[in-house]
Amino acid sequence: MARTSGWNTTAAIVTGAACALAGAALAGYLLSGRRPKKRTKIIEMMDELQKENVHIRDPERVEKLLCQLIQDGKSKLQIITDFDMTLSRFSINGKRCATCHNVLENSSLVPESKKQILDELRDTYYPIEINAKMTIEEKIPFMMEWYTKGTGVLVECGLKQSDLSLAVKESNARMRDGCDWQFHTLHEHSVPMLIFSAGIGDILEEIIKQHSQMYANMRVVSNYMDFNHDGMLVGFKGDLVHTYNKNEGALRNSDYFTTLKERRNIILMGDSMGDLRMADGVPNMQHILKIGFLNDNIEERLEKYKEAYDIVLVSDDTMDVPNAIMKKIL
Ligand code: TMP
Ligand code: MG
Repeated sequence: MARTSGWNTTAAIVTGAACALAGAALAGYLLSGRRPKKRTKIIEMMDELQKENVHIRDPERVEKLLCQLIQDGKSKLQIITDFDMTLSRFSINGKRCATCHNVLENSSLVPESKKQILDELRDTYYPIEINAKMTIEEKIPFMMEWYTKGTGVLVECGLKQSDLSLAVKESNARMRDGCDWQFHTLHEHSVPMLIFSAGIGDILEEIIKQHSQMYANMRVVSNYMDFNHDGMLVGFKGDLVHTYNKNEGALRNSDYFTTLKERRNIILMGDSMGDLRMADGVPNMQHILKIGFLNDNIEERLEKYKEAYDIVLVSDDTMDVPNAIMKKIL
């Protein structure tokens, strides 16, 4: 099977044949009861999926999904992804990396008194965001509170648009390893990528620009800052996007998904249970492969993540698995 660049129709046909072969081998295995000697399934042949930190609850389903995505090819594909702790790294050398919000909270732009309030807010609400026992519905009012209070405090800080770039430069916000390849390759193959983030759009774009590259096939839906004529932050534009309302509001009245209606296959990437709802607005969706990054509170959440995401990547600061899958499709 071709593994290098230059993925094209031939590669899709070859891989499609591999899917059929895998199906035949599986049937043979079921009939004979003997274990096949060779690895014939796509998920068995991909080294990236054999690692210990990769959890797949239903391998048959993932195999089928991969076959379908590969057979349909890049013209039917779109990517929908979260930003903080999905495209961006959770940690580097054992130290937590900044989210979009943290970039500002930790910068010299925010006075100490306000930092203290933001820290207290995070200490109160982040444990709720990742709580394994609460339902999404129970969490929503707390997330609304966190985001409303947090953005309110930022507005009180007198932040200037011209300072954002330096704040990002001084932060330890980083992209996951492999984002460069992914962004460049998706652009090359004209596969659209929606970045759906409860972070701060202006900061998110600056992080991508400084540590990778923004391309024309990328669209960001997030909380964008509203600046006055003097470039001072006066508020946030539009409806608030928080971790658990990604299924409503922001994309409800947009034509983004309708213009992509022929792209019925989705690869969704996220790190929160709220991210699973990011593709709710896609009309006529056919196949969706959900890849979840589980970064924190791992033991408590692994089972739930395995039920919700097709592939769960535990403490993985790379894009190795999504990239390996994309390589097969493109
Ligand atoms: P995401 O949807 O791109 O992952 O962005 C949301 C993340 O931002 C979520 O994990 C919570 C985090 N966050 C902070 O770190 N500080 C804050 O003040 C707020 C409101 C959110
Ligand atoms: Mg996230």
